[in-house]
Amino acid sequence: MHNLTIGFIGAGNMASSLIHGLLNKGIAGEKIVAADVDQAKLNAFASSCGIVASTAKELVEQADIVVLAVKPQVMKNVCVELADRSSQPLFISVAAGVSLASLREWLGGSPAIVRCMPNTPALVGKGATGLFANDEVNATLRDAAGQVLSAVGISVWVDQESDLDTVTAVSGSGPAYFFLFMEAMQEAAQKMGMSEELARLLVLQTAAGAAELAAQSDDSVAELRRKVTSPGGTTEQAILQFESGELRALVNKALKAARDKSVELSKND
Ligand SMILES: NC(=O)c1ccc[n+]([C@@H]2O[C@H](COP(=O)([O-])OP(=O)(O)OC[C@H]3O[C@@H](n4cnc5c(N)ncnc54)[C@H](OP(=O)(O)O)[C@@H]3O)[C@@H](O)[C@H]2O)c1
Repeated sequence: MHNLTIGFIGAGNMASSLIHGLLNKGIAGEKIVAADVDQAKLNAFASSCGIVASTAKELVEQADIVVLAVKPQVMKNVCVELADRSSQPLFISVAAGVSLASLREWLGGSPAIVRCMPNTPALVGKGATGLFANDEVNATLRDAAGQVLSAVGISVWVDQESDLDTVTAVSGSGPAYFFLFMEAMQEAAQKMGMSEELARLLVLQTAAGAAELAAQSDDSVAELRRKVTSPGGTTEQAILQFESGELRALVNKALKAARDKSVELSKND
């Protein structure tokens, strides 16, 4: 991947986190090119991290990989502008809900495209991304796409494009579910008289610690939960409340609603 030129169209949050991830992995700044509608912002960003500022049209001619990192609503315009390119780069779209069929139609020709669904922890290098490639993507390109997204966390390939709707419901929207749970725990702690500062500290460290423990343990999360839940103890009381409040059914319903919305948005792209 170190020999490849990687271009980013749209130099916002997602592009910035990927670019920093790639630079941290030792990719040279001169191998990374970015374009954005806001030229002043782009120039400041490019000089701050030592990458090359360009235009979308120039970038697509020189890059081996073009990451489309704009909002879904402007994706069509961005792609259509690239339709008269003379090059054949690999395109990677990070836009939620924009189908491979639409990208292919807008980009014209038979482009190799990887569609992916990252999540916001990518901003701190802890992202989880689901990827799916069209038939034009060979093993080498697939590997390169995986490496680009792995610069900001883990990346996993799904078997069919529709699986990205499930990825959206699980890891794409997932950070918000954990934020909601942490928010609720903080509020409960404050209602019991704990200061906001202490509640935030304890909740954040507990969430991070639980995730790290689960990641490092050979036990399933269910087993880890059972191990903390001593019969007759305090945790058991809380878990009984969650179970009697149908937490699992609620989570099931919530993820299904997110997946259904993702399907609906993909149909309207
Ligand atoms: N942020 C995340 O964690 C996350 C997670 C999953 C998926 N995504 C996907 O990643 C994509 C980018 O999201 P983001 O959060 O990085 O958005 P963002 O911060 O708004 O970045 C998009 C950038 O593209 C620029 N832009 C707009 N129109 C353009 C055009 N025609 N040509 C070139 N650049 C243009 C925007 O400029 P202006 O601000 O001036 O419009 C902005 O700088 C979205 O499709 C989103 O669905 C993001």
